[in-house]
Amino acid sequence: MIEIDRQSCIKCGKCIRDCVVEVLKAGEGGYPSLPPELARYCLNCQHCLAVCPAGALSCHGVKAPDCAGIGELPDAGKMLNLLRQRRSIRHYRNEAVSPEIIDKLKSALAWTPTGCNYHRLFFRIISDRAEMDYFRSETSKMLQLLIRTGIMRLIYPNFRRYLDEIMSGKDVIYRGAPHMIIAAVPKSAPCREADPWIALSYLDLYMQSLGLGSCWCGFAVHAFKWNPRLRKELHLPSGYRIGGVLLFGWPDVTYARATAPEAFPAE
Ligand SMILES: Cc1cc2nc3c(=O)[nH]c(=O)nc-3n(C[C@H](O)[C@H](O)[C@H](O)COP(=O)(O)O)c2cc1C
Repeated sequence: MIEIDRQSCIKCGKCIRDCVVEVLKAGEGGYPSLPPELARYCLNCQHCLAVCPAGALSCHGVKAPDCAGIGELPDAGKMLNLLRQRRSIRHYRNEAVSPEIIDKLKSALAWTPTGCNYHRLFFRIISDRAEMDYFRSETSKMLQLLIRTGIMRLIYPNFRRYLDEIMSGKDVIYRGAPHMIIAAVPKSAPCREADPWIALSYLDLYMQSLGLGSCWCGFAVHAFKWNPRLRKELHLPSGYRIGGVLLFGWPDVTYARATAPEAFPAE
């Protein structure tokens, strides 16, 4: 539902122009309006709300004063430094991330884009070290069983070099991280492959700006896939599946320089 405050609307048409699904139309008296028969196509992306210079529009009950203002952005140089200096962190200090910082991370997640603005991701954050250690030891037990039965060699022939490490109890999956965040996505989401990893990538960059270290963990996604009992302990809403996992904590490594990766062909 889009509502217009006619007292403040200046009829500039910016909301109509920026409506991605073209459902906002110039209506009676030139004021923008959402015809009832088109209302179901509205993605609730809030572009109309964000673009309105007069703050005259509310989108599904959200008004201009509910939105953050336009703040300063990192300049291009700092942004490029962030992209270059972000590293996957595999050494963590034995120190929990405070609930205040975890709250900051949780609130930042709301701004992740999702395909068709589906916006129904679900995040499970493992903030308790003991709980993380439980996932660590249960995963290790499962992997050791898969190795002993020979199944591991069959399903993941390329992981042969990790087998001895797993058998010796090394945490090759969670890398000693004190925390992880699991992004789950409805099985019916239009962009279910992309949405969770995009959300975690956004969060990853934000984490770096807070001084945290993080590491995407495709291995954990596989580990949960092979262990339905462990997956159940995440208490995901019904109809959801795990889309991505990000490890995080305070880093116990500093880098003296950025890397020099080979450029991708980009023609
Ligand atoms: C989708 C995805 C899954 C990944 N899974 C793992 C993983 O399971 N374990 C791990 O240690 N690193 C994982 N990584 C991190 C990559 O190995 C890492 O990005 C790459 O080595 C480059 O290093 P950098 O991130 O420090 O630039 C993953 C990265 C991506 C993008």
